[in-house]
Amino acid sequence: MIRQHLIAPSVLAADFAHLERDIDMVNNSLADWFHLDVMDGRFVPNITFGMFIVEAIGRLAKKPLDVHLMIVEPERYIESFRKAGADVITVHYEACPHLHRTIHQIKETGAKAGVALNPHTPVGLLEDIIEDIDLVCLMSVNPGFGGQKFIYRTLEKTRQLRDMIIVHNAPTLIEIDGGVGLQNTEALLQAGADVLVAGSSVFGATDPAATIAHMKSFSSKFDV
Ligand code: DX5
Ligand code: ZN
Repeated sequence: MIRQHLIAPSVLAADFAHLERDIDMVNNSLADWFHLDVMDGRFVPNITFGMFIVEAIGRLAKKPLDVHLMIVEPERYIESFRKAGADVITVHYEACPHLHRTIHQIKETGAKAGVALNPHTPVGLLEDIIEDIDLVCLMSVNPGFGGQKFIYRTLEKTRQLRDMIIVHNAPTLIEIDGGVGLQNTEALLQAGADVLVAGSSVFGATDPAATIAHMKSFSSKFDV
């Protein structure tokens, strides 16, 4: 079976003075999800937006909201982000001392549960809970900012995670976040990625919808 990958444009790179226009572009493109980066200035050095803006985007978006929480103590805000319209809620491994509990807290709201790993965090640390996780987000840059350079080691981490998912027969999707664009789409798909987050490579393109279509057109060639 050939896997069908998903493209999740990161709204962080959109023009917030023309947010409705940029959201409509995604609505009318071949993109699958909206990726929304919530940053608190504590877990990461940058601050973006919270549930208020997520809710506003949700009123315009016609595709699922993939909410990436780069915040400390994310368990305090899971219900609020779910109420704001999040379909996938991703917390950071590094921010959750009781990750198993937090994953189930997300699932109890009805959202899909994601876990993000910083570039230095080994994939193997998820071995005991991989079957509980709907999505693993491998950070291919240090979280906090768009437009950074892709960390090449992520390809090997993707292969390791794909092997783990196969061994455990887990339903988990692999998402790659940071520095993703046309230049590494094929390599990531061949390594086993399912969801590609793309910020500056999409919104910075002359024709964002065409870039999404191009990224979507690669076949994964990864049999399961
Ligand atoms: C980084 C965010 C990413 C970011 C990706 O901390 O998690 O989602 O928006 O942006 P690009 O695709 O520009 O690297
Ligand atoms: Zn993100």
